[in-house]
Amino acid sequence: MKLKITTLPGDGIGPEVVAEAVKVLEAMAASHGHEIEARPFPFGSSGLDEAGSGFPDETRQACLSTPAILLGAVGDPRHDHLPPGERPERALLHLRRLIESFANLRPVVASYVSKSSPFRKETLEGVDLLIVRELTGGLYFGEPRGIEGEGKSRRAFNTLRYDAKEIERIARVAFDAAGKRRSRVTSVDKANVLETSKLWREVVTEVAQDYPAIELEHMLVDRAAMELVSHPSRIDVLLTSNLFGDILSDEASMLAGSLGLLPSASIGGDIGLYEPVHGSAPDIAGKGIANPIGAIASAAMMLRYSFELENEARAIDDAILEAFAAGYVTADLTDSGDAKSSAEVGDFIASRVRG
Ligand code: IPM
Ligand code: MN
Repeated sequence: MKLKITTLPGDGIGPEVVAEAVKVLEAMAASHGHEIEARPFPFGSSGLDEAGSGFPDETRQACLSTPAILLGAVGDPRHDHLPPGERPERALLHLRRLIESFANLRPVVASYVSKSSPFRKETLEGVDLLIVRELTGGLYFGEPRGIEGEGKSRRAFNTLRYDAKEIERIARVAFDAAGKRRSRVTSVDKANVLETSKLWREVVTEVAQDYPAIELEHMLVDRAAMELVSHPSRIDVLLTSNLFGDILSDEASMLAGSLGLLPSASIGGDIGLYEPVHGSAPDIAGKGIANPIGAIASAAMMLRYSFELENEARAIDDAILEAFAAGYVTADLTDSGDAKSSAEVGDFIASRVRG
């Protein structure tokens, strides 16, 4: 099979981790009889630098011309002064909207208990959860939005809006996923305060009628933040809105050991978008020490969801576990002075995938 993908290495550590993910994809292709065609395009701050736009036209065309997109990260402190609408992050929001990837899947597995983990071993036992985050609605996109006025009378506003259809389609993704897992959905909202959450709870409860084998619980987001660190193994599928999902997924990453380990798949439209959950990490960019596993595992999700190559995806996931077992990890996961570079971790995983 010929796998055509668009890569958006982006900013900060993005290019470094995408390079390792492409290396592993090529190893997979060589050993499983596929061919990879991965073409990079400027995006985010690198798009602003190279083409004067965070989301240049040629990048947009490229994204629409392949079934899958692999993204590194966006964001650069050099562009922090820009108004919200011109920031590189906005390019990512446009991309998510363009391809209607409304469902963001973020699996969190405590498969590597790092020496520097803030958790007790017992807390992490059996942690295997999937965050299903609504990705193209909510506070990120609601209109009107803006900043007005001058001096002391400045005001700023955003709009939180969800319609029943948007809630229903993301809820179905969560229930379908739960059916292939431990058959539990924890739907997270703030229904004691927000109207959008009241509707969220109603619609999720209605959708649950179609899934009698799935157990549904509703949880307020403040309590969910606590449960995630006190009893994380009780959670199977965590379904939530855009902003809550953004926050809770960074929190949950600490269960895995590092934000650098978390992959994600953004699906729902015809084109899939795959990106590590971590950001551009400008403080460590260019040093060759970034953890490439979030990006590599995102590439595995791409094989699974966009190309239906489950065995190939599993070969990569297994190779990642072998890297853990061999102690082949980057500096975010070990403090013992034997940390490996991004390229060493990528080479190791690629060699295991090659078999
Ligand atoms: C993420 C990121 C993005 C988000 C930023 C970069 C816009 O934090 O994918 O979690 O908030 O969705
Ligand atoms: Mn985030």
